[in-house]
Amino acid sequence: MLTNFQTRILKTISSGGRDGSAGCVHQGKSKLAALMGDEFFTTIAGKVVLDFGCGEGAEAIEMAQRGASRVIGIDIREDVLQVAKARALDARVQDTCVFATSTKELADLVVSVDAFEHFADPAEILRIMNTLLRPSGEVLISFGPTWYHPLGGHLFSVFPWAHLIFSEEALIRWRSTFKTDGATRFGEVAGGLNQISVAKFEALVAASPFKFAALELVPIKRLRRLHNSLTREFTTAVVRCRLVKRS
Ligand SMILES: C[S@@+](CC[C@H](N)C(=O)[O-])C[C@H]1O[C@@H](n2cnc3c(N)ncnc32)[C@H](O)[C@@H]1O
Repeated sequence: MLTNFQTRILKTISSGGRDGSAGCVHQGKSKLAALMGDEFFTTIAGKVVLDFGCGEGAEAIEMAQRGASRVIGIDIREDVLQVAKARALDARVQDTCVFATSTKELADLVVSVDAFEHFADPAEILRIMNTLLRPSGEVLISFGPTWYHPLGGHLFSVFPWAHLIFSEEALIRWRSTFKTDGATRFGEVAGGLNQISVAKFEALVAASPFKFAALELVPIKRLRRLHNSLTREFTTAVVRCRLVKRS
C-alpha cells in the first residue's frame, strides 16, 4: 500500500524527465584531465594501464592516444565492451588499447573512473587490482557521487536525496515502469549500484592490501563552505585517491 503510494509519487515527480544522474560537464576538458589533473598524462607515459570499469572506453582510448604504452579496459558488461572495441578501431588504437571482462596482464598503473560506486563487491575488486598491479605500481581512483550525496542514488535521485526518502521497493517498482531488466534491488540495475559512502570506502581500503598515499574529498561546488569532516558524506562530489601496496 505504502509502496504503491510512493511509486505513484515517483511517477508524478519524474514525468518531466527521469535523468536523475549526477552526470557532470567537465568544462570542455577531457574527463580524465578534469578528474585526475593535467599531470595525469605525464604519469601514464610509457606505462601499462588497467582501466577498471572502463564502460564504453572513452578514457582508455584517450590514455592510449596520450602516451600509455598499453591500456587494458575491463568491464563486466559485454555490450559496453563491444562499443569500446569499435571506438578503439575508429581511433586506430586497437593494437595498444584492448577491452575484456578480465585479464591476467600485469599493469604499472590501475585507473578506475566513476566506477567504484557500481562494483557489487568492491573489496574483491581491490583484491583483483592488487594481483594485477606490479609491486611498485599505484592505483588512481576517482568516483562519485557517493550514496549520501544529493544525487547519490544516480537514476533513483529523482530529486536531491529522493533515494534516501523513498523505499528501495518503491524506487525499483518506479524504475520498472521504464526499464525491463527485471532488477529487484539497487545492486541489480545494469552496471550495479552498491550504496557506498565515503566512510565505507575508507573502511574498504583499510581492510585491503592497499593504503592511501593520498585521499581527496572534492566538495560539491555550491556547498564547499559547508564541507567539513561532519558534513562530508552529504557534501562530497568526488572521492579521489592514490593507493599503493602495503609494504
Ligand atoms: C558509470 S560507468 C563508468 C564508465 C567509465 N569508467 C566512465 O568513466 O565513463 C561504471 C562501469 O563499471 C562497470 N562495472 C560494474 N561492476 C563491475 C565489475 N565488477 N567489474 C568491472 N566493471 C564493472 C559497469 O558495467 C560500468 O560500465
